[in-house]
Amino acid sequence: MPALIDWSYIAAAILFILGLKLLGKQATARKGNLISAVGMLIAIVATLLVSGLHYQWIIVGLVIGSAIGAVAAQRVQMTAMPEMVALFNGAGGLASLLVGWVEYHNHPNQLLSAAIPTFLAILIGGVTLTGSVLAYAKLAEKVQSRPVLFPYQKMINAGLFLLVLLFGVIFCAHPAGSYPILLLLILLAFALGVLTVIPIGGADMPVVIALLNSYSGLAAAAAGFIIQNTVLIVAGCLVGASGIILTQIMCKAMNRSITNVLFAGFGASTSSAGVAVTGEAKAITPESAYFVLEAAAQVVLVPGYGMAVAQAQHVLRELADLLEANGAEVRYAIHPVAGRMPGHMNVLLAEADVPYEQLVEMDAINPTMATMDVAIVIGANDVVNPAAREDPGSPIYGMPIINVDEAGTVFVLKRSMASGFAGIENPLFFKANTRMLFGDAKASLQALVTEFKSS
Ligand code: TAP
Repeated sequence: MPALIDWSYIAAAILFILGLKLLGKQATARKGNLISAVGMLIAIVATLLVSGLHYQWIIVGLVIGSAIGAVAAQRVQMTAMPEMVALFNGAGGLASLLVGWVEYHNHPNQLLSAAIPTFLAILIGGVTLTGSVLAYAKLAEKVQSRPVLFPYQKMINAGLFLLVLLFGVIFCAHPAGSYPILLLLILLAFALGVLTVIPIGGADMPVVIALLNSYSGLAAAAAGFIIQNTVLIVAGCLVGASGIILTQIMCKAMNRSITNVLFAGFGASTSSAGVAVTGEAKAITPESAYFVLEAAAQVVLVPGYGMAVAQAQHVLRELADLLEANGAEVRYAIHPVAGRMPGHMNVLLAEADVPYEQLVEMDAINPTMATMDVAIVIGANDVVNPAAREDPGSPIYGMPIINVDEAGTVFVLKRSMASGFAGIENPLFFKANTRMLFGDAKASLQALVTEFKSS
């Protein structure tokens, strides 16, 4: 039986790696998800074959966990996915912390080889739990999403971290009889999770969530070392590595470093909002916009967070089909951090069956932007803000953007002149070639579709 369990774990690990690889491409992502899920099923069944388990508790946990997961996944809005991921990360951190705690409770005379992973599972698991709950609360605006900054904050955080390390060394050196230190470590880890996330603004929470996702993987790997479970170690390392890679990708797409995200207090004040924008924004009606679109040969569609809020992806596809039928060449330009999570736009457009080959990444579309007759911006704001390119005083200066302002005409579909996630004004709205089509994105697109159909 142990050999069968080991082979099953190896098979599960291979399926996880294969699944991750397939998840990297839109066309194969669903298959990747399914393959990873099969790997997880094999891992669970193999673990249940380990002798001496208390099956009744496992079944209770399985039923409760599955029910919560199924209801949450059914109910969650696409726009609230990062919040859900944050809570799931927190749950992962808590699980690893509990494994460390229970194992110490059951075997207080641990050897160094078990004491170190116990310390790590408790530290990383505790930080992940409270950090993730706070990240959830900030994103869902249950608490103030602005960075909370106070004097000597970095020094206090660094001091707390050193204290945790000190207690960690004491705990690992003398695990026997160190129960009070272990409890203290749990409390310090909780505090560290809160204190490291409060100075980070809501706009950076998706990056923090990816980082906490990585932490939850590392905590799980530490838990795997404690209970000597190979597949938990492998899965934990994969989550840890992929979370870090995702964090890097997101930082790069915003032209920021991870230290800048974690320590700069981005969005703490609006005083650094760059030069004041002058000029007048010009509104347009769907009827007038139709005449411009009707004559366009090259059209680029740039979706953003507002498209997700309005759930406008299906009617956008309908408009794209009508434009193509009218002889225009249509492309969708995808910014890597449009929306609120990696791949947000790709998922929504796939839902509306937009062909993959029409999706063009920012770097590929930008050199062709000047040849576009019309760019339609659907609920995007920060990712098309030319201040990132033109205004060295802007907080988003240096962030790569989709250069829609270089197109012949730009239609911006949004409800008001309100700012985007970064909370800064957008000079695009005031440019001579920009027209604002105010209203809910779905309603505005529907109005354009109606114009095409009735003409
Ligand atoms: P945002 O800059 O957040 O702008 C979204 C715009 O959509 C808003 O200005 C809003 O204007 C409009 N909107 C909202 N609901 C709408 C509706 N029903 N109909 C029409 N418009 C609507 O979005 P973006 O351009 O996609 O940029 C994403 C932001 O998130 C960036 O700042 C990015 O750095 C940040 N971020 C993203 C990620 C990932 S991975 N995606 C990670 C970290 C940070 P109105 O209120 O006037 O309608």
